[in-house]
Order: sequence, then C-alpha cells, then structure tokens
Amino acid sequence: MKRVLTGIQPSGALHLGNYFGSIKQMKDLQDDSDLFIFIANYHALTSLKDGNALKENTLDCAINFLALGIDPEKSTFYAQSDVKEVLELYWILSGYTPMGLLERAHSYKDKVAKGIGANHSLFSYPVLMAADILLYDAQVVPVGKDQIQHVEMTRDIAQKFNNDFGDILTIPEFKVAQDVQTVPGLDGAKMSKSYGNTIDIFSSEKQLKKTVGKVVTDSTALEDPKDWSTCNVFALAKLYLDEDGQEELKKRYEKGGEGYGHFKMYLKELIWDYYAEAREKREHYLNNKSEVYDILESGAKKARKIARAKMEIIRDAVGIYR
Ligand code: ADP
Ligand code: TRP
Repeated sequence: MKRVLTGIQPSGALHLGNYFGSIKQMKDLQDDSDLFIFIANYHALTSLKDGNALKENTLDCAINFLALGIDPEKSTFYAQSDVKEVLELYWILSGYTPMGLLERAHSYKDKVAKGIGANHSLFSYPVLMAADILLYDAQVVPVGKDQIQHVEMTRDIAQKFNNDFGDILTIPEFKVAQDVQTVPGLDGAKMSKSYGNTIDIFSSEKQLKKTVGKVVTDSTALEDPKDWSTCNVFALAKLYLDEDGQEELKKRYEKGGEGYGHFKMYLKELIWDYYAEAREKREHYLNNKSEVYDILESGAKKARKIARAKMEIIRDAVGIYR
C-alpha cells in the first residue's frame, strides 16, 4: 500500500468546494492507501497571530474532519505540532534549499504581491512542507494545483540531500485529483473563502436556506422552461444526485412551471440531508472534546514512532551525534 500524505490548513469554516475538492478524496484514500493526514498548525502561524484563535481552529478542524468521515482507525490523523521532529528536519533540510528555489515560489510571491508582509516563515514555508513529507517517507502527496510547486521543491530538496548521503529520503510524487470538478460558488465563480461566495457545510438550517437563496440565477419566468446547463443551482444540486436524480431534475427544468425558488428549496434539502450524519457526529465531538484530543494523541503516537526512526537515520547521516 502506498503511503499518501496530506496536510490541511486549519482555517475556519469548510465549504462545499472543500468537501468535493478535497475531503471526499481523502475519505476514498483512507480505504486504499496508508493515509497520513495532519493539521498543519505550524504552517498556520505564518498567517494567524492570535493564539486562542489558532487553538480553536485546530480543534475545530479536527472535529470537522472527523465528523465528515476521516477515520482515525483507517488513517494516521494527527496535529503537525505533536511531532516536534518535523522542526529538526526542517532545519536540516534548510541546508539543502537554495535561496533561488524559495525565491521562485509562486505562493510566496503572490502573498507578497498582495501586500502581506514578507517574513522568514512565509519565505521558508516550503521547507517545512518538505519536512512534513520527507519525515514520513510519503510516496504520494495529493494537492490542489496551487501546491504542486511545493511538492516539486520537496523533490529538489530531497534529491540534493540524497546526492550527499545516499538514498535516505523518499522522493514523493504529487497527485492532482483528475476527476474533481471545480465547485461553483453563489455567483458561479469558483467557490472560495477569498471570494466570499461560499456555502458552508456546517451552517444552521436557517442560514443554509438564506445562503442558498443567494445563488445567482437568470430571470426566466416561473412558467417558462429553464436551461439547467447554465444554472448554478443545477450545478450544485448535481453534486448530490445520481444519474437518475439528475435526469429527473433536468426534466423539471425543461418542463417549466417551477421557479428558481423551488429549485433552491430542493438544493437546500439535498445539502441539508447529505450532511445529516456529519452534523450529528460534529455535535458529539463538540460535546466531548477530550475524545478529540485523545484521537489526535493516538495519531501522533503512530506518527512519532515513524518520525523518530527516520530522524535517527538522518541525524546519523548528517552527523548530529544523537
Ligand atoms: P479557499 O479557496 O476557500 O481558501 P482552500 O484554498 O483552503 O479554499 O482549499 C482547501 C482545499 O479545498 C484544496 O484542496 C482545494 O483544492 C479545495 N477547494 C477549495 N475550493 C474548491 C472549489 N470551489 N472546488 C473544488 N475544490 C476546491
Ligand atoms: N501547504 C498546504 C496548503 O496550504 C498544507 C500543507 C502543509 C501540506 N504541509 C503539507 C500539504 C504537506 C501536503 C503535504 O494547503
């Protein structure tokens, strides 16, 4: 079984795009790979300077992923900061990371261009990400398009290290999910926190109804046939329907006699029902937070065992005496 590893930024509420673009894939991966999945809370320090908020986001992130079906029995689920070895490896790898490599990083350049103050952690972020991956001999790293370059940098860094010390580090491959559609937001553009066009997975029923009400539609009259192929409501509903369900909905569009309000109501029901079990689990974990910390600790135990064994080899190679 391949070792697959991915990190998640603990950054607030999850939306439908996150679910179909990422979480659903992770759920599939835990069934047929040796999945390592961690909350990248050290990485979050580059953007979040509020200690209480970071603690809360970390716990919230763990709860949301557990609620949505990440199974700690099937995967190794942990918080990045529970395995301190990653910071030691980060330092060692820094010596194999040319400045030019980091200076070319799009994500760093984009952030600086947006006026986010350049500091060292933002700049060296890809080295920490390399440490996350190399510490566990990950073979495959599933990422969104924006993260491909970081995995390529990881490969470069690992090659440089191996040139000096032999084949100690496993060179990882990145994997961009192929069949994942971009989930549209309320306005039809890519659903994203940064565009303010999201539908959150865990909003209240009332809020969900309100948000779905904001999905942009055209002004075809209620009695007229409607074009499902260009409709944002249909594009979202489709995610929750099998082929028969989609055909049925297409017919309702083509027939006329129903307004967008009806279709939005239907969409709201689809979303609400789909996450019913996740909501229940989330409630459970919110009321039993110590259970969540226990789960993270047992994940960290598994991860630390591997990390420690790997670090012994790496330390020995570079000459750190213990
Ligand atoms: P956001 O754009 O809201 O900030 P993130 O960048 O935090 O979202 O994305 C986290 C994960 O969710 C990534 O793997 C990303 O590819 C996926 N994702 C986010 N938005 C979408 C979307 N609209 N459609 C498909 N996948 C998405
Ligand atoms: N940088 C990733 C993101 O912003 C999160 C991350 C941190 C990660 N370390 C990782 C992803 C290691 C994959 C592997 O989404």
